[in-house]
Amino acid sequence: MSNENTLSRRGLFMKMGILFNGVVATALAVPVVRFLLSSITRGRANAYLSWVSVGSVNEFPEGETRLATFRNPYETPTDGKTVDTACWVRRVAGDQFQVFAVNCAHLGCPVRWFPQSGLFMCPCHGGAYYRDGSRASGPPERGLFEYPYKVENGLVTIQAGELPTPGSPTATLFGKKPPCAA
Ligand code: FES
Repeated sequence: MSNENTLSRRGLFMKMGILFNGVVATALAVPVVRFLLSSITRGRANAYLSWVSVGSVNEFPEGETRLATFRNPYETPTDGKTVDTACWVRRVAGDQFQVFAVNCAHLGCPVRWFPQSGLFMCPCHGGAYYRDGSRASGPPERGLFEYPYKVENGLVTIQAGELPTPGSPTATLFGKKPPCAA
């Protein structure tokens, strides 16, 4: 075998190796780059957020808090029953509402409303919230998260698609008025 042949075969293997490494590096880089850009592209992803009804105004007596469910508009084929999402709806007066995520602001356990004591209680670590969602006691550092809502054609609708959390576009931390609740 001539020296020239060996060199060209070596060169071919080297080029194939470089090409293979390039393909693998690209395949590994795609999810990393998508993750790094997710905070920028997140705005466009908000397209899945949409207004969904949690029921007619008449279903919510003034001064009371009721459990309601809505169909999450951000649905994937594997969601099954979990696409039905619960929330607590408090009708303050007239068209003035508060719609709370059921998830505790501590670690996300579902909170329950106890009208007798006027408190939302979390079964996991004893977190408690007043009727307006503000923190009463326990480990949560803040009040319950609220969905933006509006009343239209006799229906209470909320902006759903993502659970309201500090980082989500629908987040309305307790104490801040939901932008569309005016
Ligand atoms: S999850 Fe509710 S108090 Fe911890």
